[in-house]
Amino acid sequence: MPPHKEYISRQARFSFFKLYSLKFFFRSTGSLYMFQTKLPHVGQTIFSHMTALAQKHGALNLSQGFPDFAIAPRLIALAGFYMQKGYNQYAPMPGVAALREAISRFYTQAYDPQQEVCITHGATQAIATAISCSVSAGDEVLLFAPAYDCYAPMVQLNGGKPVFVNLSFPGYRIDWELVRSKLSPKTRMLIINTPHNPSGTLLTEEDFLQLQEITRGTNLLVLSDEVYQHIVFDGMTHRSAADFAELRKRSFVIGSFGKSLNITGWKIGYCAAPERLMREFKKAHQFMVFSVNHALQYALADYLKEADLAQLSMSYQRKRDIFLSALANSRFSPLPTKGSYFQLLDYSAITQEEDTLFAERLTQTKGVASIPLSVFYEVPQHNKVLRFCFAKNEETLKVAGDRLSVL
Ligand SMILES: Cc1ncc(COP(=O)(O)O)c(C=O)c1O
Repeated sequence: MPPHKEYISRQARFSFFKLYSLKFFFRSTGSLYMFQTKLPHVGQTIFSHMTALAQKHGALNLSQGFPDFAIAPRLIALAGFYMQKGYNQYAPMPGVAALREAISRFYTQAYDPQQEVCITHGATQAIATAISCSVSAGDEVLLFAPAYDCYAPMVQLNGGKPVFVNLSFPGYRIDWELVRSKLSPKTRMLIINTPHNPSGTLLTEEDFLQLQEITRGTNLLVLSDEVYQHIVFDGMTHRSAADFAELRKRSFVIGSFGKSLNITGWKIGYCAAPERLMREFKKAHQFMVFSVNHALQYALADYLKEADLAQLSMSYQRKRDIFLSALANSRFSPLPTKGSYFQLLDYSAITQEEDTLFAERLTQTKGVASIPLSVFYEVPQHNKVLRFCFAKNEETLKVAGDRLSVL
């Protein structure tokens, strides 16, 4: 064997030996094969579980929050039009200017559409980006439970610690004294959500003034999730963090066309924030997604010129009322819903079963799927409440109400 070949093969044998021993070492310590999860408590979501159960039993699915009716044909036509027209390549990084301008009008021009609005891949990405650009390892983020499910995992993925404050029961209101007691020098952000999923409550002017007072003179940031901003009932008005000058300066305000135009599958949302915050938001946004579907943004911008968003509240209020009147003779007690498309029902007069078991039983035996409220808490609260989504066609709501009345 020529000397260089012998050398190579000796080297190769040695490397193989080294790799083999390393493999043995790591296998015995477990470190090469173990993937250290950042989200140890996250498994299959209750939404997937209840949807699968609903499918298995042919149940009406009032669990997941999405509309089951057709979207505006005009919106589909506009989407096709802009695709035909050639808007099929990357959109500008912060979004199409005309759409950013339309969004700034939602907030009576509180934001400069050039600098302070960014179009995102649904509100979920806006939430993820706002948290990623603000929360560092060791920071605490205050969340109100019951809480929408993506906040806490996003805080954890960024090394932060979610600190939960339970809303009062049964009114689902914020106890501001409790909030004060949970703040620490490590608190970086508070996440609020109005209209609130799952309770359907709205934050009042007094709530925002309290928040403004608590955050005054601090470096605290606010993430205000307002995806149901255009769905409010009984003559109530949606109040935004953007309405309060001092709060606006420290807030990421987040919305979703998925909710405002019944197009959850388009996954287009937005974030509005003062330039100082938006600059950091966009730095993260450009590396997370860069930009969002081009043609659909133009379609939305055009559609918003003619859409009557006030009509959305009326149509959902009608659906809420159809569902409630179908339940009028049932033993469920509805909790007041002032916004969003969720109705909470207290079932304590029917059974003392835990909510997860009862929700499964209702799906299997009565053919109506819902979401147990305990899953929206860090430490499950067993208040005997289920959440029903009424973004469904009227016949579905009537049949669901009838089925739930024979209990
Ligand atoms: C409170 C809340 N925030 C955010 C989202 C996510 O919105 P999107 O579908 O636009 O990502 C939802 C969706 O259900 C929600 O209920």
